[in-house]
Amino acid sequence: MELPHAQAAVLRAASAEDATPIDELAAETDLPPETVTGAAFELEERGLVVVLSREEESTTLTEEGDEYADRGLPEVRLYEAARGLDADPVPMGEAIGRAGLEGPEVDIALSNYARKGYGEIDSGTVTTDPDAVPDTDSEAMALDAITAGEAAPSDEVLDRLERRGLIERSERTERTVTLSDDGVTALMEGVESRETVGQLTPELLASGEWRDVEFGAYNVEADAERVDGGRLHVLRETGERVKDVLVGMGFEEMDGPHADADFWINDCLFMPQDHPARTHWDRFALEEPSEIDDLPEGLVSRVERAHREGVGPDGDGYHSPWDEGFARALALRGHTTSLTTRYLSGTEIGEIDPPARFFSVEKAYRNDTLDATHLLEFFQIEGWVMADSLSVRDLMGTFEEFYAQFGITDIEFKPHYNPYTEPSFELFGTHPTTGELIEIGNSGLFREEMLEPLGVECDVMAWGLALERLAMLTTGAEDIRDLHGTLADLDFLRNAEVSY
Ligand code: PHE
Repeated sequence: MELPHAQAAVLRAASAEDATPIDELAAETDLPPETVTGAAFELEERGLVVVLSREEESTTLTEEGDEYADRGLPEVRLYEAARGLDADPVPMGEAIGRAGLEGPEVDIALSNYARKGYGEIDSGTVTTDPDAVPDTDSEAMALDAITAGEAAPSDEVLDRLERRGLIERSERTERTVTLSDDGVTALMEGVESRETVGQLTPELLASGEWRDVEFGAYNVEADAERVDGGRLHVLRETGERVKDVLVGMGFEEMDGPHADADFWINDCLFMPQDHPARTHWDRFALEEPSEIDDLPEGLVSRVERAHREGVGPDGDGYHSPWDEGFARALALRGHTTSLTTRYLSGTEIGEIDPPARFFSVEKAYRNDTLDATHLLEFFQIEGWVMADSLSVRDLMGTFEEFYAQFGITDIEFKPHYNPYTEPSFELFGTHPTTGELIEIGNSGLFREEMLEPLGVECDVMAWGLALERLAMLTTGAEDIRDLHGTLADLDFLRNAEVSY
């Protein structure tokens, strides 16, 4: 049988009795391990060998881990130095000096000392617990075991060492090759090797040798090294996808200021000026400039009238104070519904005639308490549809169509209250891993009290959905802080898939 050079070499080096690891075959054949792996898979395809794969976890010490394995963990050195001094408690400076701790080691020693029960650190002194046994410090013993290549310590200790940056863990695939019966027969009958070329080089081209050589086939199934290039942040990717979906549904994009007058953010939405959401607790007010320069005069007086007297023959206002200065105050928008009021008022792109659909995917800012579902800022998917006759069915149908594009087909609606919509609905989705219902948006049909001053004479249904919550549902992220900010998990961001 005639085989390409690498395959023939691997076949000769393999054994029928023992499973030989790729590294050993590489050493024996003097070929790079990648070449041996490729050749082994091709031989397996010919039925001449059996390749077995096994995931192997390996642990190596980092430079810092190596140093502690050599000189002792800082906290152990601190304990031993403090024990060696003839006092208890010992002045901290003295113990640190005697332990030979320098630079960042001092903080490292102090932060692990009490945790491990070596004693207490208190206002410049160190006490030592006479019962502590540094010789059996599980982390120190683990460092020694890893250095000596002995059996792996428990996962819990490894986790701690990894968090301290003292070890690195990696997974690799360990492969072995064993001759099959056909392989043995082939070897007995005689195998000749044929030179093949794995890569076309400038030299081969220049010399014209490429005409005569035989090229090896590509193995497209071989494992390749993984290269992490840059990629779009999953939130940005989801946002772009949302825009594509909405444009596909016939919506046009709105655009406008992040810092805006309360007039556009609240007053035009028939939000009473003494509403709790309008206190300084909830909004990020601007100090400089603190007020908007101009507001459309006629609209200001129509909005004021709606707040004071209501709209229509049976209308009633809030009977609460309404002050134009208050409406002029600037703040970071707490929702992007300020864009909606601007567009509906005709001041942005002129009068808009029905039927019309608009959206934005933009940032909103709220002074919320940080937790798993809240940050101080988030992307809001704002949208509205203007038409002659709209009902709740239109609203629900639009959401069903929208969320289905992201594979979400089980949204639930809950009646809600907004000063500017009637009826109003909150939207909920089921988290794919925790199974919890999470709020994903708020919506409704705008009230007369809002539409009439803006000069809109037909129905408008509208919503504000949270992009981050949508991303939590599509990626399975359980905490918004995994998506955004300093705690975001890089592995998650590298691997997260966006649904299409
Ligand atoms: N502004 C609302 C919010 O921030 C969302 C919304 C917009 C609700 C339009 C109804 C109509 O929650």
